[in-house]
Amino acid sequence: MIGKAQGPPVSITGVGAYVPDRVLTNDELSTLVDTSDEWIMERTGIRERRIAAPEQALTDLALPAAKAAIAQAGIEGKDLDLLLCATVTPDMMFPTSSALLADTLGANEAAAYDLLAGCTGFMYALAQAYGMLVAGLAERALVVGGDVLSRILDWTDRSTLVLFGDGAGAVVLEKVEKPGFLGFELGADGGGGIHLSLPGSGSRSMEEATGNGYVHMNGREVFKFATRVLVSSAEAVLERCGAAVEDVDVYIPHQANVRILDHAVQKLGIPRERMIVNVDRYGNTSSGSIPLALAEAQADGRLKKGDLVLMTGMGAGLTWGSALMEWTQ
Ligand code: COA
Repeated sequence: MIGKAQGPPVSITGVGAYVPDRVLTNDELSTLVDTSDEWIMERTGIRERRIAAPEQALTDLALPAAKAAIAQAGIEGKDLDLLLCATVTPDMMFPTSSALLADTLGANEAAAYDLLAGCTGFMYALAQAYGMLVAGLAERALVVGGDVLSRILDWTDRSTLVLFGDGAGAVVLEKVEKPGFLGFELGADGGGGIHLSLPGSGSRSMEEATGNGYVHMNGREVFKFATRVLVSSAEAVLERCGAAVEDVDVYIPHQANVRILDHAVQKLGIPRERMIVNVDRYGNTSSGSIPLALAEAQADGRLKKGDLVLMTGMGAGLTWGSALMEWTQ
């Protein structure tokens, strides 16, 4: 799916993020599985990640992020009429984390539902909220992306354990005077889905699945997929919007692995200093990754009004998604 923005201009008017306090270093991981700081740094660029406390579930991470985004937008929870939460680790399957968050935030008039698109979830939710605002179905949306992947990892499997972390981010979308969002490109390849899966997590019996009920990943295949779609999706959305790669001021790719990110900037021809990188400190936080990076970029003063911002996510599904926008805050 690809589209250039049409209709009333919509943009991000508030951003927030939250990560748990607990820092888990590579050295600590090497006491749990057969790995080393050197191996993890060389293959992934990840130095440490955050891990939720036992009593913290997704909405506990999402709530502070949501509150910060709402405050920055200068609105209140009750002003929201749409709340989307992209996650693969909701508090439970139902009630949805979105409904729980809407209740806590006082968003009593809001439609609220969770969305599953692996690590691309935030990009899918962003496009969906955008579409609802443009269609006039909603005026103010909160889009949350977050995951507590530490709960679905096999803590004896070094090939997945070292990659992921916990975190959440949120943005408020509203109609604005000048166009914020310029276009989106989203895609899925279920044929490759088997390379990154959570067997036993749904109605398919474990007997028919491969794995042990934890994240199951073919790292090499996912690596090849990720490096390919980060480039193709970004190029597609830029072309559809009539923008050149040189115009991109801030590039925010899904924070999976420094090697994947370096490959993408090199292939795309975006100067590395225009890319936001925080995977070294948080690992791959799945749906939390892009809004977390967005919030950090804003806090660091790297996002300025008028900047052309390119975001691309990819992950389980296999799925991918890009958004191009002019920063209007
Ligand atoms: N520590 C030490 N050794 C490890 C290890 C770890 N944490 N994980 C794997 N290894 C070993 C493997 O067992 C293998 O050993 P072998 O050669 O004796 O079989 C060796 O390291 C090389 O494994 P390989 O899978 O070829 O490494 P790689 O260079 O492809 O790096 C990943 C592995 C997982 C880091 C890489 O494939 C990757 O980043 N893939 C994408 C993952 C991703 O981003 N997923 C989420 C997408 S949203």
